[in-house]
Amino acid sequence: MKQVAQFRTLKQQGIGISMLTCYDTPSAKIQDACGIDVIFVGDSLATNVLGYAHQNDLRLDEMRHHVRAVARGIERAYLLADIPYSASHDLPTILDAAELLRQDGVNGVKVEGFKPEVFTALAKTEVDGWAHLGFTPQLIEKPAMQAKDSDTADQLVAESQALEAAGAVGLILELVPAAVAQRVSQALKIPVIGIGAGLLCDGQVQVWHDLIGLETHVYKHAFRQSDAHAAQTAAVQAYRELVAKRK
Ligand code: KIV
Repeated sequence: MKQVAQFRTLKQQGIGISMLTCYDTPSAKIQDACGIDVIFVGDSLATNVLGYAHQNDLRLDEMRHHVRAVARGIERAYLLADIPYSASHDLPTILDAAELLRQDGVNGVKVEGFKPEVFTALAKTEVDGWAHLGFTPQLIEKPAMQAKDSDTADQLVAESQALEAAGAVGLILELVPAAVAQRVSQALKIPVIGIGAGLLCDGQVQVWHDLIGLETHVYKHAFRQSDAHAAQTAAVQAYRELVAKRK
């Protein structure tokens, strides 16, 4: 199993850190075998897999169920999971959720927003604390580029440094200009993983369904590598036709 210290080494060596969301055992086996560094059970589980309208509808027991499934598929990667919004309201609730997720197999948990006290507390536990700044879907309603002017960019750099000082072991930066993401990456020793934040971060995170093309909507920042939706549709159609013809 990868340890978080290895990611600082990759950062120092200038080797990009790969992170992918994952929600089930077979996908985890594929990602693990391909050498993905961080396999991440994001709360996008809610919309991508469970059919909820919003990721904030996800319950902790649902997250735990999928974390255990993903953990069963991993032999070497580092396992990260979101603390769902429903378990993020206060520090004791976050710490309890982190401990339960640790028992389910995670190495680290991700907490959205500027909450230094959470990272100070997590640093005293066995669970690594990962921060998430920029566009934070649990806290900001509409997806939009963040830190676009110099004041908000300065604030993002200052908040990132404060979270690192508080004990965060990594930072996800979502929807921020590439130059700002580069500034943050250079200002921190911990790995900065971007999504929609250009190519100058220490690593990238992508949503599994966007990468393999299981979603029909193609986001601007998606690194789409296949069209799983078309392939699965064709397989189901072929099967239905064969059965109808009794072949
Ligand atoms: O849940 C999720 O998919 C995320 C993205 C940033 C990858 O948090």
